[in-house]
Amino acid sequence: MRQAMAQAEVGDDDYGEDPTVNELQRLAAQLLGMEEALFVPTSTMANLIAVMCHCQRRGAQLLVGREAHLHVFEQGGVAQVAGVHSQVLQDLPDGTLDLDELESTVRAGYGSRYHPRSVLICLENTHSSAGGRVLPLAYLREVRLLADRYKLRIHMDGARLMNAAVAQGVAPAQITQHCDSISLCFSKGLGAPAGALVAGCREFVAEAWRIRKLLGGGMRQAGVLAAAARVGLERMEETLQRDHSNAHRFAQGVWELGSPICSVNPSAVETNMVLVRVAVPWLSPEKLCEHMQAVSEEEVAETGQAVSVRLFPWTARSLRAVWHCDVSAQDTQLAANKLKFVAEQCWRERGAAPARPDAAHGSKHPCGCSAAAS
Ligand SMILES: Cc1ncc(COP(=O)(O)O)c(C=O)c1O
Repeated sequence: MRQAMAQAEVGDDDYGEDPTVNELQRLAAQLLGMEEALFVPTSTMANLIAVMCHCQRRGAQLLVGREAHLHVFEQGGVAQVAGVHSQVLQDLPDGTLDLDELESTVRAGYGSRYHPRSVLICLENTHSSAGGRVLPLAYLREVRLLADRYKLRIHMDGARLMNAAVAQGVAPAQITQHCDSISLCFSKGLGAPAGALVAGCREFVAEAWRIRKLLGGGMRQAGVLAAAARVGLERMEETLQRDHSNAHRFAQGVWELGSPICSVNPSAVETNMVLVRVAVPWLSPEKLCEHMQAVSEEEVAETGQAVSVRLFPWTARSLRAVWHCDVSAQDTQLAANKLKFVAEQCWRERGAAPARPDAAHGSKHPCGCSAAAS
């Protein structure tokens, strides 16, 4: 990737003259089944651009999951910068929205002189807060039909769209066919240092170009970044498959551990994320993350290893583990071993008796397979 960046042919992208950016945009549009795509610095900007393109009238409203990245982690940019009202809906554990709730919410304001005008539905795929869950294609079809009934547009925050495509074994365009616009991030599982894009029809991208400029996202020799993004795209099948299988292996390891301290639901692991539930009230996810990152003399003495694992406290009772191209299968095994060591150490320090391996979940594997045999 570094080599591709160093060798990239560049020009001034603010004048549309960077051949590497232009080629990436062409390739990405083709891959996504969209007329055009626009390279932007970040997915946050890509999402904001999309919302601003779709919601041009004052009083416009978007409908979005309460836990969506766009709603929670992007500083409310759609309100702060774009003046767009958000109607939030509860995300279900699999990352979808309840279609009946979505429809009744839209219907409540449809044609009303008192409500904001619903214009846009924002979906997230994969759904980050739900632990990298993939939105089912049948669900996307339903949302499309609903949107068409009420003349709404659909934007998909597809920061991890390629994870969804790889997990479902479908071409990305099979997913995006249900959307009017899509954002995609190159600096997550695809491993580039920066860059994202927003894609849609020709008129949408023409407007997106204007808004990117407004937001200060016009870049000059951006080809050095586009070259990295292209490498990410070219090798995505292999890297994302590996990330997904590492995440599965880790989840399986935690499940087999049967620790009373932490648990996972392996059948909910669909891509490169694992949500680990911290099951005892006396240990917070923050503290467990600290233990996973710290290296102690006891760890070295007991396991012969000094392993530091960086995890993210996610909710009041869970932490999140995420895989990317620099985390190997061996790293994954070391991380699982470390969790075993930390869980046993916490349990010992608490003065509790050692737990039976099947104490936390019984012997039936949530996937339906035999844990001992897999
Ligand atoms: C689902 C989702 N959308 C958008 C973003 C924003 O990406 P960026 O950091 O490139 O702005 C993130 C970042 O984690 C994300 O997880």
